[in-house]
Amino acid sequence: MINIKNLTKIYDKGKTRALNNISLSIEDGEFVSIMGSFGSGKSTLLNMVGGLDTPDEGTIEVMGNDLSKINLSKYRRNTIGFVFQLHNLIPNLTSMENIQIPLFSEKLKSSEMKERAMVLLNAVGLDGFCDKHPNKLSGGQMQRIAIARALVNNPKIILADEPTGQLDSENSEIIMDLLEKRHIELDTTLIVITHDIEIAKKAQRIIKITDGCIEEN
Ligand SMILES: Nc1ncnc2c1ncn2[C@@H]1O[C@H](COP(=O)(O)OP(=O)(O)O)[C@@H](O)[C@H]1O
Ligand SMILES: [Mg+2]
Repeated sequence: MINIKNLTKIYDKGKTRALNNISLSIEDGEFVSIMGSFGSGKSTLLNMVGGLDTPDEGTIEVMGNDLSKINLSKYRRNTIGFVFQLHNLIPNLTSMENIQIPLFSEKLKSSEMKERAMVLLNAVGLDGFCDKHPNKLSGGQMQRIAIARALVNNPKIILADEPTGQLDSENSEIIMDLLEKRHIELDTTLIVITHDIEIAKKAQRIIKITDGCIEEN
């Protein structure tokens, strides 16, 4: 599914080697967690798998396609669902509208877009909140909307960068259950960066990153 070979990423004109010759394979439908201390390169790795950033050396192949040879915005739109630590919801859009953002580039009827957003609102248990703006939601609810938005395009791969980093344990559980449910029901490949060992242990495999290198695999 995801094949990473000799991946290196260098910032600050060579001063920071964020990733140092990483090779890694992730199977179709696998759930993997990534752990490592602050600044070890976790987000850099996830961003490159998600087509948000490009390698300095090495290759990333996803479903047989070399990411350096394909249209990355199309790839992000069709294949990837991204969830960040901060939900990044747009304040002046309602829950329904925020969830529909990834659909704007597709040529769908507005009724169809609303229907798809409603299915996801239901799935995250917030169907009563469709007309609410983010400032009327709790942190956990905002993150649930962000998950609905990440899933509305039926991505084959979900990438979550510390999705529960701002949440208490009860809300963390809800968020992880939603992601795991998707992984199990639709066989979606799931990669979660976390500092929480209890969350990491839910995965089939834990990958540890230290100073831009994979420590354990
Ligand atoms: N856009 C950037 N410009 C310069 N340095 C960066 C940039 N992004 C990350 N870095 C550096 O790369 C290293 C790895 O960062 P990151 O992948 O964000 O780590 P993590 O997510 O594990 O905390 C850090 O030293 C960080 O300061
Ligand atoms: Mg990070």
